Amino acid sequence: MYTKTQIQNLQNLTNTLLKSNGTVEELRDVLRFHEYRYYILNDPLISDSEYDQLYKKLEKIEKENPSLITKDSPTQRVGNSLNKDFVTVPHLVPMLSLENSYNPQDLIDWSERLNGLTDYQKIHFSAEPKFDGASISLIYENDLLVRGATRGDGAAGDDITTNIKQIGSIPLSAKFSEYGIEKIEIRGEVLLTKENFRKFNETLSEEGIAPLANPRNAAAGSLRMKDPSAVRKRKLEAILYHVSFIQLNEKGLKNYPQLLRTHSGTLQLLAELGFKTPIREKKIFTDINQVVNFCRDFENKRDELPYEIDGIVVKVNEIELQQQVGSTTHHPRWAIAYKFKARQATSKLINVEFQVGRTGSITPVAKIEPVPIGGVTVSSVSLFNEGIIQEKDLRLGDTVIVERAGDVIPYIVKPNTELRTGKETKIIFPVNCPVCGDPLVKTEDEAVWRCVNISCEAQVVERIIHYVSKDAMDIKTMGEANVRKFYAQGLITDIPSIYSIDHDKIASLEGFKQKSVDNLLTAIEHSKKQSLNRLIFGLGIRYVGETTAKILAKSIDTIFELKKFSIEELQQLKDIGTKVAESIFTFFHNEDNIIILEKLAEKGVNINGNKTESLSGKLSGYTFLFTGTLPALKRNEAEKLAEENGGKLLSSVSANLNYLVAGESAGSKLDKAKKIKTVKIINEEEFLNLIQS
Ligand code: IVH
Repeated sequence: MYTKTQIQNLQNLTNTLLKSNGTVEELRDVLRFHEYRYYILNDPLISDSEYDQLYKKLEKIEKENPSLITKDSPTQRVGNSLNKDFVTVPHLVPMLSLENSYNPQDLIDWSERLNGLTDYQKIHFSAEPKFDGASISLIYENDLLVRGATRGDGAAGDDITTNIKQIGSIPLSAKFSEYGIEKIEIRGEVLLTKENFRKFNETLSEEGIAPLANPRNAAAGSLRMKDPSAVRKRKLEAILYHVSFIQLNEKGLKNYPQLLRTHSGTLQLLAELGFKTPIREKKIFTDINQVVNFCRDFENKRDELPYEIDGIVVKVNEIELQQQVGSTTHHPRWAIAYKFKARQATSKLINVEFQVGRTGSITPVAKIEPVPIGGVTVSSVSLFNEGIIQEKDLRLGDTVIVERAGDVIPYIVKPNTELRTGKETKIIFPVNCPVCGDPLVKTEDEAVWRCVNISCEAQVVERIIHYVSKDAMDIKTMGEANVRKFYAQGLITDIPSIYSIDHDKIASLEGFKQKSVDNLLTAIEHSKKQSLNRLIFGLGIRYVGETTAKILAKSIDTIFELKKFSIEELQQLKDIGTKVAESIFTFFHNEDNIIILEKLAEKGVNINGNKTESLSGKLSGYTFLFTGTLPALKRNEAEKLAEENGGKLLSSVSANLNYLVAGESAGSKLDKAKKIKTVKIINEEEFLNLIQS
């Protein structure tokens, strides 16, 4: 997409524009370049705030001179809220389905059918992942994105252009004209990575809203949201894999673009124009048996991918042959989907238990007859909240369809109502806390019932479990099971009591050898030095996730300063809204909480923030990349450490990299780094020295 010289020029231009003013064209060029680095290559060259500075400069000039605004200016992604329903628009070519196959023989039969339809001697098969998201169609006319639509019924879909523009990896304009293309309709899939899905659901549950079932539903739902800025926050990605319509200009008519003669060439063309495509994942075969092996290999590593896939799509690579064999009314004959094993199973709903969470929220959990799904036996499935039970009309004794997709927690898709015998019974939601017996409360804007007794034992235990968890104070070997055990034995009673736990009593517990007691004590001791953001997150303040905790830690010198913040002052901090500010304010104005903090400080737990340090973190101004297996730290721990000390992480080796931290069996990244003189290659110990120095 960008040549070396272009990259160099754009980087120089970026530096100039950050320091001084530039033209709208210059600003647009650098912004587009950095969007490409960020969204397509996942390898940003500038920080978010530098991007924002450039963006604001462009926005300012455009505001002052509206006549300079162009439709594909990076500022034009932002749209107004839609106040009407979406308009239905016809597709240029119907969006067909794919024929499904479930075993190798189906693929072999398909290839034989193809052989019967053509006299081609050798068919090339192109195989690529079948992305499990929401399908979209994009139309570009004279290089401009003019329309984005959902699949709808295949013939017509919803016009979601404004929302489509919120997806950073979809270019608002692309140089199709250079390939002789005047108008083009492209098909693809909008997805949410598993990681972004998990994070998104975390925010939802912090807000007391039922989490979304799976990334596919989240992506589809996001595309139909009324508020484009909310769409942007979901961090959707789009992968484009098919061209369904092309109209050529004079240049194209004279000289047909060669790349369009094959599917793999089409992917290359789209990739060169700045789209995300499955070009790296796809593989070409001539032997269908090799295609079968490819499908099997992919199925085995599906969980390692950052996003969900539900199969492999095998396509005839020659476009001419695709046109020869054509389509049925339902699917093209030139493609077939090899579907992976279902991650759904049928089971029986035996009972519903009600669990009390750390914030007192009551979660109904379905107990089902144990059933294997995708290699894991599932017997417990969260039902999230009362509303979902009603919405799905679930009853005890129902036969239910359960799904477990990848890393996603299992959930009940629906009951099979046809199998009802009449003996099924209603699920009764409790009116009192199942643990402390206090009456449950539900506010108007929430979907969940809560126990508001903060001394409720269940909440105390959950709060301790959260405090010791990996993303909070990371007290290894403490874990959920041990917290429950220690609490039941009276060894811990609240968070501060962790730091005065009786060693001898633990050693006398069944299954605790001296070594495990030592490990536990070391981990407890180690947690005292954790950064303040982890402590704040670990306190389990409602609506305060890891990001908010970091923002708070950066704004104070000691945790007790938070007592002095008014709701308005809290709201002035980045990304903190009224609800979050009120919750923080309430927490720090509760005497019991302050006593807990004082006890923690007394025990030597770090309560100091990095207000001063964050401005000059030990690693600030330096970029890092980790490769290979490090002797002591896990990859994510090392990365967190780098970030916590002001360092910036890069995802690939380039001249912008300052330090490559290499562990055992470091591969191509190390080789590449050795070739760049300015990259310093260091080991874990040297990395830790940088922080401690
Ligand atoms: S090609 C004419 N390639 O799966 C059909 N489709 O279940 C062209 N899908 O409707 C589609 N990944 O929405 C194609 N790599 C891929 C795909 C893919 C996912 C979707 C697509 C299709 C559906 C059928």
